[in-house]
Amino acid sequence: MNTSFERCENTKVEWLSPPELVACLGEFDLDPCSPINAPFVHAKHNFTTLDDGLAKEWFGRVYLNPPYGRGMELWMEKLKFHGNGIALIFARTETKCFFEHIWNDADAILFVKGRIRFYHVSGVQGGTPGAPSVFIAYGKENAKVLKDCGIEGRFLALK
Ligand SMILES: C[S@@+](CC[C@H](N)C(=O)[O-])C[C@H]1O[C@@H](n2cnc3c(N)ncnc32)[C@H](O)[C@@H]1O
Repeated sequence: MNTSFERCENTKVEWLSPPELVACLGEFDLDPCSPINAPFVHAKHNFTTLDDGLAKEWFGRVYLNPPYGRGMELWMEKLKFHGNGIALIFARTETKCFFEHIWNDADAILFVKGRIRFYHVSGVQGGTPGAPSVFIAYGKENAKVLKDCGIEGRFLALK
């Protein structure tokens, strides 16, 4: 089986968050973009492509690992306006997305040490991705959770 997560032309890959890492961040009310046949869930309520989680109203404490590629910034923008949640994305710190929705708006960032090995929808863990990851907190409480969560990395308060 090919467990590589490198992006291929015209291939949409589901990169699922390791549940053991999300568990370090406490309980979440909503994952707005969860796979249809999820091998595990990270929140009490889960939207899938069948619901279109981007169009729905978000509620409570949100865990967001958005669909990668074009349009990803729309999910980050929505979390920014929602103001309560933690996102997991690649540390593409030079991008428009970072400058429009993160650097001036998020409360804190945790730069993860090493590379996160994401899971396939089959529940099998994949190989090492080509980029480092960050957790991004919106809201003071979520920043505190990120600071104290025990995930190895470098914490940076932004507010
Ligand atoms: C990077 S994966 C993350 C999955 C899960 N949130 C996690 O952290 O393990 C992104 C997910 O978004 C889902 N997705 C894509 N577009 C969506 C939409 N409009 N509404 C809800 N889910 C969507 C995909 O099916 C995929 O499972």
